[in-house]
Order: sequence, then structure tokens, then C-alpha cells
Amino acid sequence: MKSLQIEVFICRSDNFGVLLHCPETGETASIDAPELDPIVKAAEKRGWTITHVFTTHHHGDHVEANLALKEKYGCEIIGPRNEAAAIPGIDRTVGDGDEFTFGKRPVRVIETPGHTAGHICYYLPEDMILFAADTLFALGCGRLFERSALDMWHSLQKLAELPDETIVYFGHEYTLSNARFAVTIDPENARLRSRAELIEMQRKRGDFTIPTTIGFEKETNPFLRAGEPDIRRTLGMEGATNDEVFAEIRKRKDTF
Ligand SMILES: [Fe+2]
Repeated sequence: MKSLQIEVFICRSDNFGVLLHCPETGETASIDAPELDPIVKAAEKRGWTITHVFTTHHHGDHVEANLALKEKYGCEIIGPRNEAAAIPGIDRTVGDGDEFTFGKRPVRVIETPGHTAGHICYYLPEDMILFAADTLFALGCGRLFERSALDMWHSLQKLAELPDETIVYFGHEYTLSNARFAVTIDPENARLRSRAELIEMQRKRGDFTIPTTIGFEKETNPFLRAGEPDIRRTLGMEGATNDEVFAEIRKRKDTF
């Protein structure tokens, strides 16, 4: 089986557009639909025709181009059952544990409530690729708009259980701000400090920081590391539960 091909580009100001293409079947999925023109340009550059949209959640900067893409390509829009009413043009609803086929391989749906109530991620186990959108970012996680810190902590734990080698595509280029924040929470973490230095250079050059991996995030992303003694000591929360520590880290990032 041939490998899937991926095209990454910027939409709006800091949304990632991602196209996933199967060279055998010719199928192409747009992961969310943040903005029509950059998506169409990216598809045309590669000579791909969009057959699917994998919607992760209902926010406008992820669904804005749904209807226009559908009109242009007649593509099928797949999206979260728990917020289907807010997804323009949705054709097929999916929920936790559902699997469907794209490019002759399974795509598994992982529900990750927190950023929104119905947010889902798309995981391709055979290719070890995760589309995490606004649940897990490089060195960050999504803001809690519709669910509690406890819910988001559980959602992030589900993603952390995937194999370390899993390649993670995420929804926004927020990595520089996330890195500057992360070193305030986990200052003794040498891997994080060197990663933060690299990110400063990457962003100065205008390079993207996507993708990351689950293993790298587990080593460096404070939002996955609420159980670490060093972080608890830094926050003065040695006796707190993991989700309380996570909630404190999330609260501090909101005002960073
Ligand atoms: Fe969002």
C-alpha cells in the first residue's frame, strides 16, 4: 500500500490547512475547512480533487469553507455527531470509536470534549497519523470554551495513550507563544528548553512547527505533564490531583 501524502499550508492568519491524499484511490481529504482560496490553491498545486472534509469542531475558523468546497467539488463532509447541527453541509456524523475507510485504510474517531463539547480527532492507526485540531497543539492545548478542565484532561489522556511515534497535525501555529509559556511551567526540563530555542529560530525564519509527535509532546508539553513532580513543585501544588494541576496550567496560559 502506498503512503498517504500530506500538504500543509496556512489559512486565515494562523490556522493550518491540511490536505490528506491517497495516491492509490485518488481520494483527498481536507482536514477542516478554514478558508476556501488557500485550500483550493493547495489542491490545484498538487493536482488533487477534494473528495472529503474531515470536520473536527464547529468553530467558524474550521468550517467556514465547508459549503463552498461542497459546491466546488461535491465532497462529502464528515463531522462530530455531538455538534452536527452546527456543522454546515454535514453529510455523515461520527462519534467516539467509529471507524470509516479513507484511502483503503481505517480512520478512527476519538472524541475529545473540552475546547468544544463535541470536538473529535481523526486517527489513522496504520499510518500512525493524528489530526488533533484544537485539542492538542505543539506545546499547548485548546482553550476550554464548552467543557471543564477535567473533561479536557481526560481527552488529552486519550491522545497521550496513542503510540509515541504517532505524527500529530494540529489546528493552529501557536507554538512560539506556547513554548515561551511552557518554560515558565517546566523550567528544569532540558528537552523543553532546547525545543523552545529551536522554535524561536524556526519562527524567526518563518518556518512552521507542524507536525509534532505524541512522544515529543509527552516529554515537553506541560498540558500533558500535570503529574510530573517538578511541575507540581513549581506550581506549589504537590498534593493536588492531576486535573487540578492541569486546570491551573490552563488558567495561567489564558492570561499569559
Ligand atoms: Fe476552535
